[in-house]
Amino acid sequence: MRRPFIAGNWKMNKVNAAASELAISLKDKIADLDGVDVLVCPPFTALNCVLEAIKGSKIALGAQNIYWQKEGAFTGEVSAQMIKSAGCEYVIIGHSERRKYFSESNQEINKKIKAALAADILPIVCVGETLEEREQAREEEVVRSQLQEGFDSLAEQDLEKITVAYEPVWAIGTGKTATTDQAEQMHAFIREWFRQAYSSKAAENLRILYGGSVKPGNIKGLIGQSNIDGALVGGASLDPETFGEIIKFSVA
Ligand code: PGA
Repeated sequence: MRRPFIAGNWKMNKVNAAASELAISLKDKIADLDGVDVLVCPPFTALNCVLEAIKGSKIALGAQNIYWQKEGAFTGEVSAQMIKSAGCEYVIIGHSERRKYFSESNQEINKKIKAALAADILPIVCVGETLEEREQAREEEVVRSQLQEGFDSLAEQDLEKITVAYEPVWAIGTGKTATTDQAEQMHAFIREWFRQAYSSKAAENLRILYGGSVKPGNIKGLIGQSNIDGALVGGASLDPETFGEIIKFSVA
Protein backbone atom coordinates (compact mmCIF):
# COMPACT_ATOMS: atom_id res chain seq x y z
CA MET A 1 0.00 0.00 0.00
CA ARG A 2 1.26 3.43 -0.90
CA ARG A 3 1.03 6.00 1.87
CA PRO A 4 -0.75 9.25 0.94
CA PHE A 5 1.58 12.18 0.37
CA ILE A 6 0.48 15.84 0.37
CA ALA A 7 3.07 18.43 -0.63
CA GLY A 8 2.70 22.20 -0.58
CA ASN A 9 4.53 24.23 -3.20
CA TRP A 10 4.61 27.80 -1.93
CA LYS A 11 6.21 29.07 -5.15
CA MET A 12 7.53 32.67 -4.90
CA ASN A 13 5.36 33.56 -1.91
CA LYS A 14 5.92 34.42 1.75
CA VAL A 15 8.58 36.60 3.28
CA ASN A 16 10.16 35.05 6.36
CA ALA A 17 7.76 36.24 9.06
CA ALA A 18 4.74 35.12 7.03
CA ALA A 19 6.42 31.81 6.20
CA SER A 20 7.02 31.03 9.88
CA GLU A 21 3.48 31.99 10.73
CA LEU A 22 2.05 29.73 8.02
CA ALA A 23 4.24 26.79 9.07
CA ILE A 24 3.35 27.18 12.76
CA SER A 25 -0.40 27.34 12.03
CA LEU A 26 -0.17 24.28 9.81
CA LYS A 27 1.78 22.37 12.44
CA ASP A 28 -0.96 23.10 15.01
CA LYS A 29 -3.73 22.27 12.59
CA ILE A 30 -2.46 18.78 11.73
CA ALA A 31 -0.80 17.89 15.04
CA ASP A 32 -3.02 14.87 15.69
CA LEU A 33 -3.07 13.56 12.17
CA ASP A 34 -1.43 10.31 11.14
CA GLY A 35 -1.26 8.10 8.07
CA VAL A 36 -0.10 10.77 5.61
CA ASP A 37 3.25 12.27 4.66
CA VAL A 38 3.21 16.07 4.63
CA LEU A 39 5.77 18.32 2.97
CA VAL A 40 6.14 22.07 2.60
CA CYS A 41 8.37 23.69 -0.01
CA PRO A 42 8.94 27.37 0.83
CA PRO A 43 11.22 29.66 -1.18
CA PHE A 44 14.98 29.23 -0.48
CA THR A 45 15.09 32.33 1.70
CA ALA A 46 12.52 30.93 4.14
CA LEU A 47 13.91 27.38 4.44
CA ASN A 48 15.69 28.14 7.65
CA CYS A 49 12.84 29.78 9.50
CA VAL A 50 10.34 27.16 8.31
CA LEU A 51 12.71 24.42 9.51
CA GLU A 52 12.62 26.05 12.96
CA ALA A 53 8.84 26.39 12.83
CA ILE A 54 8.17 22.74 11.97
CA LYS A 55 10.57 21.28 14.56
CA GLY A 56 8.93 18.52 16.54
CA SER A 57 6.26 17.94 13.87
CA LYS A 58 6.00 15.34 11.13
CA ILE A 59 6.09 17.98 8.42
CA ALA A 60 9.07 17.58 6.09
CA LEU A 61 10.93 20.39 4.36
CA GLY A 62 11.68 20.67 0.66
CA ALA A 63 13.03 23.16 -1.86
CA GLN A 64 11.42 24.10 -5.17
CA ASN A 65 14.47 23.76 -7.41
CA ILE A 66 18.21 23.09 -7.48
CA TYR A 67 21.06 23.47 -9.92
CA TRP A 68 22.84 20.24 -10.82
CA GLN A 69 26.40 21.37 -10.11
CA LYS A 70 27.72 20.94 -6.57
CA GLU A 71 29.37 24.35 -6.26
CA GLY A 72 31.26 26.93 -8.25
CA ALA A 73 30.82 30.05 -10.32
CA PHE A 74 27.08 29.80 -11.01
CA THR A 75 25.74 33.08 -9.73
CA GLY A 76 22.29 32.88 -8.24
CA GLU A 77 22.07 29.08 -8.20
CA VAL A 78 21.67 26.72 -5.25
CA SER A 79 22.95 23.12 -5.13
CA ALA A 80 21.47 19.92 -3.75
CA GLN A 81 24.21 19.89 -1.09
CA MET A 82 23.16 23.40 -0.03
CA ILE A 83 19.50 22.56 0.43
CA LYS A 84 20.55 19.40 2.26
CA SER A 85 22.58 21.52 4.65
CA ALA A 86 19.55 23.79 5.10
CA GLY A 87 17.50 20.85 6.38
CA CYS A 88 15.66 19.79 3.22
CA GLU A 89 14.70 16.19 2.59
CA TYR A 90 12.96 16.81 -0.73
CA VAL A 91 13.19 18.94 -3.86
CA ILE A 92 10.65 19.65 -6.58
CA ILE A 93 12.25 19.14 -10.00
CA GLY A 94 10.95 20.13 -13.41
CA HIS A 95 7.89 22.07 -12.30
CA SER A 96 6.02 23.37 -15.35
CA GLU A 97 6.74 26.97 -14.31
CA ARG A 98 10.46 26.17 -14.45
CA ARG A 99 10.00 24.50 -17.83
CA LYS A 100 7.98 27.45 -19.15
CA TYR A 101 9.61 30.57 -17.66
CA PHE A 102 13.16 29.28 -17.27
CA SER A 103 13.28 27.02 -20.34
CA GLU A 104 14.20 23.91 -18.39
CA SER A 105 14.62 20.91 -20.66
CA ASN A 106 14.12 17.24 -19.91
CA GLN A 107 17.91 16.84 -20.13
CA GLU A 108 18.46 19.46 -17.42
CA ILE A 109 15.76 17.86 -15.33
CA ASN A 110 17.56 14.51 -15.67
CA LYS A 111 20.79 16.12 -14.40
CA LYS A 112 18.94 17.71 -11.49
CA ILE A 113 17.35 14.40 -10.47
CA LYS A 114 20.79 12.78 -10.45
CA ALA A 115 22.27 15.68 -8.47
CA ALA A 116 19.50 15.43 -5.87
CA LEU A 117 19.96 11.68 -5.47
CA ALA A 118 23.72 12.09 -5.13
CA ALA A 119 23.14 14.49 -2.24
CA ASP A 120 20.60 12.19 -0.60
CA ILE A 121 17.68 14.47 -1.43
CA LEU A 122 14.36 12.93 -2.52
CA PRO A 123 13.19 14.34 -5.88
CA ILE A 124 9.56 15.07 -6.76
CA VAL A 125 9.63 15.05 -10.54
CA CYS A 126 6.89 16.97 -12.33
CA VAL A 127 5.45 16.06 -15.71
CA GLY A 128 2.39 17.28 -17.57
CA GLU A 129 1.05 18.58 -20.86
CA THR A 130 -0.09 22.05 -21.90
CA LEU A 131 -3.65 22.87 -22.98
CA GLU A 132 -2.56 23.02 -26.62
CA GLU A 133 -0.98 19.58 -26.36
CA ARG A 134 -4.12 18.13 -24.79
CA GLU A 135 -6.33 19.73 -27.44
CA GLN A 136 -4.18 18.02 -30.04
CA ALA A 137 -4.59 14.73 -28.11
CA ARG A 138 -0.81 14.64 -27.62
CA GLU A 139 -0.82 14.42 -23.81
CA GLU A 140 0.46 10.86 -23.60
CA GLU A 141 3.17 11.46 -26.18
CA VAL A 142 4.36 14.55 -24.28
CA VAL A 143 4.37 12.88 -20.87
CA ARG A 144 6.07 9.80 -22.34
CA SER A 145 8.98 11.85 -23.66
CA GLN A 146 9.22 13.79 -20.38
CA LEU A 147 9.58 10.43 -18.62
CA GLN A 148 11.91 8.87 -21.19
CA GLU A 149 14.30 11.81 -21.21
CA GLY A 150 13.87 12.86 -17.60
CA PHE A 151 14.54 9.37 -16.23
CA ASP A 152 17.29 8.53 -18.69
CA SER A 153 19.85 6.12 -17.16
CA LEU A 154 18.24 6.12 -13.72
CA ALA A 155 18.38 2.77 -11.96
CA GLU A 156 15.48 0.90 -10.40
CA GLN A 157 16.88 1.54 -6.93
CA ASP A 158 16.81 5.29 -7.64
CA LEU A 159 13.07 5.04 -8.18
CA GLU A 160 12.54 4.10 -4.54
CA LYS A 161 13.59 7.64 -3.66
CA ILE A 162 11.55 9.42 -6.31
CA THR A 163 7.98 10.70 -6.36
CA VAL A 164 6.33 11.71 -9.63
CA ALA A 165 3.82 14.56 -9.86
CA TYR A 166 1.43 14.73 -12.80
CA GLU A 167 0.43 18.35 -13.27
CA PRO A 168 -1.53 19.21 -16.39
CA VAL A 169 -0.30 22.73 -17.09
CA TRP A 170 -3.82 23.90 -18.01
CA ALA A 171 -5.01 23.05 -14.50
CA ILE A 172 -2.31 24.89 -12.56
CA GLY A 173 -3.50 28.04 -10.84
CA THR A 174 -6.43 28.26 -13.22
CA GLY A 175 -9.17 26.84 -11.01
CA LYS A 176 -9.66 24.13 -13.65
CA THR A 177 -8.99 20.69 -12.27
CA ALA A 178 -8.67 17.69 -14.49
CA THR A 179 -11.67 15.46 -13.90
CA THR A 180 -10.87 12.53 -11.66
CA ASP A 181 -11.18 10.32 -14.73
CA GLN A 182 -8.74 12.41 -16.76
CA ALA A 183 -6.29 12.42 -13.86
CA GLU A 184 -6.63 8.71 -13.13
CA GLN A 185 -6.18 7.87 -16.79
CA MET A 186 -2.88 9.71 -16.99
CA HIS A 187 -1.72 8.34 -13.63
CA ALA A 188 -2.40 4.82 -14.88
CA PHE A 189 -0.49 5.64 -18.07
CA ILE A 190 2.48 6.91 -16.04
CA ARG A 191 2.47 3.85 -13.78
CA GLU A 192 2.35 1.59 -16.82
CA TRP A 193 5.33 3.44 -18.29
CA PHE A 194 7.33 2.64 -15.15
CA ARG A 195 6.15 -0.97 -15.27
CA GLN A 196 7.52 -1.29 -18.81
CA ALA A 197 10.69 0.70 -18.20
CA TYR A 198 11.55 -0.86 -14.83
CA SER A 199 9.36 -3.52 -13.20
CA SER A 200 5.94 -4.17 -11.72
CA LYS A 201 7.38 -3.82 -8.26
CA ALA A 202 8.95 -0.43 -9.01
CA ALA A 203 5.71 0.77 -10.61
CA GLU A 204 3.55 -0.44 -7.74
CA ASN A 205 5.74 1.23 -5.11
CA LEU A 206 6.01 4.56 -6.93
CA ARG A 207 3.90 7.39 -5.52
CA ILE A 208 2.29 9.55 -8.19
CA LEU A 209 0.83 12.86 -6.99
CA TYR A 210 -1.72 14.94 -8.84
CA GLY A 211 -1.25 18.71 -9.07
CA GLY A 212 -3.39 21.50 -10.49
CA SER A 213 -6.02 23.43 -8.52
CA VAL A 214 -6.30 20.83 -5.76
CA LYS A 215 -8.71 22.01 -3.06
CA PRO A 216 -10.51 20.55 -0.03
CA GLY A 217 -13.50 20.02 -2.34
CA ASN A 218 -11.74 17.80 -4.88
CA ILE A 219 -9.03 15.96 -2.95
CA LYS A 220 -11.25 13.07 -1.86
CA GLY A 221 -12.36 12.26 -5.37
CA LEU A 222 -8.78 12.40 -6.61
CA ILE A 223 -7.18 10.36 -3.87
CA GLY A 224 -9.97 7.80 -4.13
CA GLN A 225 -8.58 6.78 -7.54
CA SER A 226 -6.39 3.73 -7.49
CA ASN A 227 -3.38 5.38 -9.15
CA ILE A 228 -3.49 8.76 -7.37
CA ASP A 229 -1.40 8.74 -4.19
CA GLY A 230 -1.57 12.35 -3.09
CA ALA A 231 -1.28 15.90 -4.27
CA LEU A 232 1.18 18.66 -5.06
CA VAL A 233 -0.71 21.76 -3.98
CA GLY A 234 0.14 25.33 -5.00
CA GLY A 235 -2.28 28.16 -4.20
CA ALA A 236 -4.28 26.23 -1.61
CA SER A 237 -1.12 25.42 0.39
CA LEU A 238 -0.68 29.10 1.26
CA ASP A 239 -3.57 29.02 3.70
CA PRO A 240 -3.12 26.74 6.73
CA GLU A 241 -6.86 26.11 7.10
CA THR A 242 -7.31 25.07 3.50
CA PHE A 243 -4.09 23.06 3.28
CA GLY A 244 -4.88 21.42 6.63
CA GLU A 245 -8.29 20.36 5.28
CA ILE A 246 -6.73 18.90 2.15
CA ILE A 247 -4.36 16.87 4.33
CA LYS A 248 -7.20 15.70 6.58
CA PHE A 249 -9.41 14.71 3.66
CA SER A 250 -6.57 12.73 2.12
CA VAL A 251 -6.71 10.23 4.97
CA ALA A 252 -10.40 10.39 5.89
P1 PGA B 1 -2.08 25.11 -7.98
O1 PGA B 1 -0.54 24.77 -8.30
O2 PGA B 1 -2.50 24.16 -6.87
O3 PGA B 1 -2.07 26.54 -7.53
O4 PGA B 1 -2.84 24.89 -9.21
C1 PGA B 1 -0.07 23.46 -8.33
C2 PGA B 1 1.39 23.46 -8.66
O5 PGA B 1 1.81 24.25 -9.50
O6 PGA B 1 2.20 22.68 -8.09
